[in-house]
Amino acid sequence: MESSQQTIQNIYDCNDENIRLCAQSIQQGDLVIFPTETVYGLGACALNEDAINKIYKLKKRPNNNPLIIHVINWSEAEIYVDINQIEANIINILVKEYWPGPLTLLVKKEKFVPDIVTANSKWVAIRSPSNKIARKLLEYAMVPIAAPSANISGKITSTCKEHILNYFGDSEVSMLLSDEPCKYGTESTIVKVENNTVSIIRPGLITFEMISNTLVNIQDLRLVNNNITKQIDSPGTSLSHYTTSKNTLLFNFVDIEVPENSYNSNINEALKSYLDVSACIDFGSFNFHYKELFFAYVDLSKNNDINEAIFNLYNVLHQLDKLNIKNILIFDYYSDKKGLYKTLFDRMYRCCSGKKILIPINI
Ligand code: TXA
Ligand code: MG
Repeated sequence: MESSQQTIQNIYDCNDENIRLCAQSIQQGDLVIFPTETVYGLGACALNEDAINKIYKLKKRPNNNPLIIHVINWSEAEIYVDINQIEANIINILVKEYWPGPLTLLVKKEKFVPDIVTANSKWVAIRSPSNKIARKLLEYAMVPIAAPSANISGKITSTCKEHILNYFGDSEVSMLLSDEPCKYGTESTIVKVENNTVSIIRPGLITFEMISNTLVNIQDLRLVNNNITKQIDSPGTSLSHYTTSKNTLLFNFVDIEVPENSYNSNINEALKSYLDVSACIDFGSFNFHYKELFFAYVDLSKNNDINEAIFNLYNVLHQLDKLNIKNILIFDYYSDKKGLYKTLFDRMYRCCSGKKILIPINI
């Protein structure tokens, strides 16, 4: 009994008193897991190198992968950045439109921002979350909070209480856990601002098209929308990310006539057995007719709602990862992959490490 009481001492409901307690832990150099409107964060005082070290250690994160600093507002952020007038104009417009919210700004840093936070880069990523619990934590802690997503490095992101307990339930780190899942369920958009060039480093809820509209009056603006498959200058945009413990692949069915002969019937049998130990993640009921072929079938959004699909993806991956199956097959939906479709595809592509298969349909 004693030991079970001890293990729950670090798990907190998000009431005001508990948020204050956790803010004190941040001030004392300890870690706190907390919800945001995007995903859960694993936070520490951004100005305390020892505390930041604890994040890398607990998350098993390579120390060349920098952390986002969370602040209350841009006035607080200003002391950590070293920007010119052109950059300030652009940032003011973005901050007015999207802060607090799911937009991270990547800008040149002031010297005193600890190198460990930015992994020795001259650039710092800053975000102001809109989630009330996250904001109270920032307000009570009175320091900027560096926080990566609260998951083991490279694994599926946590968007609800259950995911956090799965990864960190046995640890002693303080956790503020909400009964509600995170509102959006995917990470913030990261935008780099360098002179008149604005580049989307990581797609998110705030899309390239939205940013383009917001900045329409900036003269000589260069807006860069990076290709998902291109490796860019953020260590966290590696091809393999959000991985499950199963063989996870993008898939499409292909409608090809397979002539009847013994060789092909062997292939068909092999395919059937393969699908028998696979789960299908569908989108928009597209493959509903084939659901019986799979061990399990889940739809990210039966009605083709992209926000719902993004919200569900990580949770579906967490749930399927627990099943006794070998493969998770994610439908590579047909779309131009712009706007929010790009965001969803970015996460799907990385959780499959870019791997894709075509399955003959007439099995
Ligand atoms: O929604 C979010 O952004 C969540 C919540 C907790 O705020 N945080 C989050 O953090 O997604 P993380 O560490 O999982 O992803 C941050 C990404 C990483 O890919 C990292 O490489 C990139 O931001 N990043 C952070 N600082 C950077 C820097 N100075 N230069 C380049 N990339 C940076
Ligand atoms: Mg992450």
